[in-house]
Amino acid sequence: MKVLIATDKPFAKVAVDGIRKEIEAAGYELALLEKYTEKAQLLDAVKDANAIIIRSDIIDAQVLDAAKELKIVVRAGAGYDNVDLEAATAHGVCVMNTPGQNSNAVAELALGMMVYAARNFFNGTSGTELMGKKLGIHAYGNVGRNVARIAKGFGMEIYAYDAFCPADVIEKDGVKALTSADELYQTCDVVSLHIPATPETKKSINYALLKQMPKGAMLVNTARKEVINEDELIKLMEDRPDFKYLTDIMPAANDKFTELFAGRYFSTPKKMGAQTAEANINAGIAAATQIVGFFKDGCEKFRVNK
Ligand SMILES: NC(=O)c1ccc[n+]([C@@H]2O[C@H](COP(=O)([O-])OP(=O)(O)OC[C@H]3O[C@@H](n4cnc5c(N)ncnc54)[C@H](O)[C@@H]3O)[C@@H](O)[C@H]2O)c1
Repeated sequence: MKVLIATDKPFAKVAVDGIRKEIEAAGYELALLEKYTEKAQLLDAVKDANAIIIRSDIIDAQVLDAAKELKIVVRAGAGYDNVDLEAATAHGVCVMNTPGQNSNAVAELALGMMVYAARNFFNGTSGTELMGKKLGIHAYGNVGRNVARIAKGFGMEIYAYDAFCPADVIEKDGVKALTSADELYQTCDVVSLHIPATPETKKSINYALLKQMPKGAMLVNTARKEVINEDELIKLMEDRPDFKYLTDIMPAANDKFTELFAGRYFSTPKKMGAQTAEANINAGIAAATQIVGFFKDGCEKFRVNK
């Protein structure tokens, strides 16, 4: 059994060591393709792989066609929009993610961004505090729950809206469950985005929604850039000089945001929410364990395709 790690942006060495230990303990072979620059390298490496562990690497129909022995792809991380799920199903390949493994890392970054903006990007001027502010968590999944846990320590008043998570699950954490996105944005000084990119959510964070936020509002995005309607966000920030936007996913119009909104716009140079040693190790090892469970016990618990 051959397991390939195919990572354009490699795992930390300790994560690869951890994955190797799991894979070799199961009697399988581990192969590594790191920092590849051409798709052809990936197409060649997948030829005899039975399982592949990826990060943000693209697995499309062409890769699946080339991977004749492939049974499973595990995305070490939460979002799996880099894998063509329909093509995987058509090729009889199981696709999994490793939910929850990097949630704390992303949540810590979201809170860090809030402090950074509240303190005027650490520019030496007097800022504001998070304590007592109303925080809206848009989607109460793995990351959203961790944001709630940490924000409690800051003394924030916490609200959440999730289209699918039952209100009692949210409220048992001491978080007020709201019944619509509109209500969340009307209520909260700070909104932290944790929705996935789906046909329903793409471009859903738009002018009409954001304009309802109170004066001095802040939007923090550690989710996906596709959920933002960038043109409308730019228009809103032009109309609302009090509005701040912090993102871990650089907008396509980053240059425009930077030029127009100095002092109230920040983007990380490259997505770094999950870029911690701990998240790297957790997600990588979870991917290896899930592959072993899949082959040895037929376990498909974290399967994301039909
Ligand atoms: N910045 C990073 O490096 C990084 C790392 C991990 C995850 N992410 C992104 O963060 C987001 C959240 O990740 P997660 O691990 O918490 O995912 P998750 O699957 O655990 O939670 C997503 C939540 O969104 C809810 N949801 C789905 N559609 C919705 C809608 N239309 N309206 C409201 N709620 C909706 C679901 O019910 C679920 O509770 C994803 O977009 C993911 O891709 C980013």
